[in-house]
Amino acid sequence: MALSKSRAVSTTSPTAARPRRFVPSGPLKGRTRVPGDKSISHRSLMFGALAVGETRVTGLLEGEDVMATAAALRAMGAAIEKQGETWSIHGVGVGGLLQPPAPLDMGNSGTSTRLLMGLVASHLIAATFIGDASLSKRPMGRVIDPLSLTGANFEASEGGRLPLTVRGISPAMPIEYRLPVASAQVKSAVLLAGLNTAGITRVIEPVPTRDHTERMLRGFGAELEVANDFGERVITIRGEADLMPQDIVVPGDPSSAAFFIVAALLVPGSELTIENVGMNPTRAGLVDVLQEMGGQIEVLNTREVGGEPVADLVVRHSELSGVEVSPDVVPSMIDEFPVFFVAAALAKGQTVTTGLEELRVKESDRLSAMAEALSGAGARVIEREDGLVIEGTGGEPLRGSANSRAKTHLDHRIAMAMAVAGLASRDGVDVDDTRPIATSFPAFETLLGECTG
Ligand code: S3P
Repeated sequence: MALSKSRAVSTTSPTAARPRRFVPSGPLKGRTRVPGDKSISHRSLMFGALAVGETRVTGLLEGEDVMATAAALRAMGAAIEKQGETWSIHGVGVGGLLQPPAPLDMGNSGTSTRLLMGLVASHLIAATFIGDASLSKRPMGRVIDPLSLTGANFEASEGGRLPLTVRGISPAMPIEYRLPVASAQVKSAVLLAGLNTAGITRVIEPVPTRDHTERMLRGFGAELEVANDFGERVITIRGEADLMPQDIVVPGDPSSAAFFIVAALLVPGSELTIENVGMNPTRAGLVDVLQEMGGQIEVLNTREVGGEPVADLVVRHSELSGVEVSPDVVPSMIDEFPVFFVAAALAKGQTVTTGLEELRVKESDRLSAMAEALSGAGARVIEREDGLVIEGTGGEPLRGSANSRAKTHLDHRIAMAMAVAGLASRDGVDVDDTRPIATSFPAFETLLGECTG
């Protein structure tokens, strides 16, 4: 049965659009730090909410997406509050989530929605998920399919979309599931359902995706194993799990650092140090590809923070050359393509990307949104079904978008990528709405202003 449309509307972002012109800037200089990793921040709250006792988190990203996760977990019984610089979470224990009294408003956040759907699926509660216009277009069938196999029940809007209601089941059936798309969110949803399911839940990943769920669940004391079976990753979790509260330090988000890395590479005279950037190999593909293009990015002081590799990056203005990006590296830079396309637009020669179908179902259709926005700013872009082909300027600034405003489609990463394009343009780039930036990087504009003096 389809859900009534009256519940389709998220209550977040009620303000008017906030357009801005990003103008050519001086060099990016000095030292900066980006906020905490979004993926790790969501998981810190969720796993803390399932541990008995107090989990303490520093460096948590305080963007709208992560706050949507916090609000949902509070509605299901966890106590979450900020004390000074530390977030304190008192969890309810695996199996202890309570019936939320009202629909859970996920705002713009696909990660909150899909991971929480997994958690609810193996609890004897029902939860309705609602979101903004962007999230309400995104496919949830990819998590409904495996979670239905556990015995949980789903009532979704047409096309497997939000608003949707999950009726969890307990005891749930343990399942084995081979991922049909490379998705850390789907992998995580199944593993999280497995936490409160007696027996072995197994996920088979033909293509590796970000592994924060695996690393962190182990850190919280779950019995989780990862094996390699003829090139496929096989992740096994034994439920019902007992999670132990942890002290977590969240490293800087490489997906947020990406905007500063590309800006410093493109703006002449730049030399910027970005401290404390997460360098987990399942996330660091952008740095490798930019280095292959001739980008001067020095990786210094590699160390471990909260069980994750981090480093300080020194980025200098560079002459970039076009590149053919192997589909194999796509999952490790999946969220960085919007700003990568900006780098390609100023490189010398052609850049070819393939295997990017997943970009069409992110916060916006990022292939068409970036093709349109970059073309509007004077770049030469051909849009293909599974990627973009970009003929770079060889370092010449883009003309800019005096006559066409870049449309962000409620997508934070389109807004920030086109802001970077504006810095590397002749006339500046008009971005139609900067509000979505707050979902992942509320301080972006302030930090950019600081770095460009
Ligand atoms: C995320 C996984 C990725 C990524 C998203 C965050 C996560 O999504 O794009 O921003 O935290 O698990 P997919 O699983 O859809 O690839």
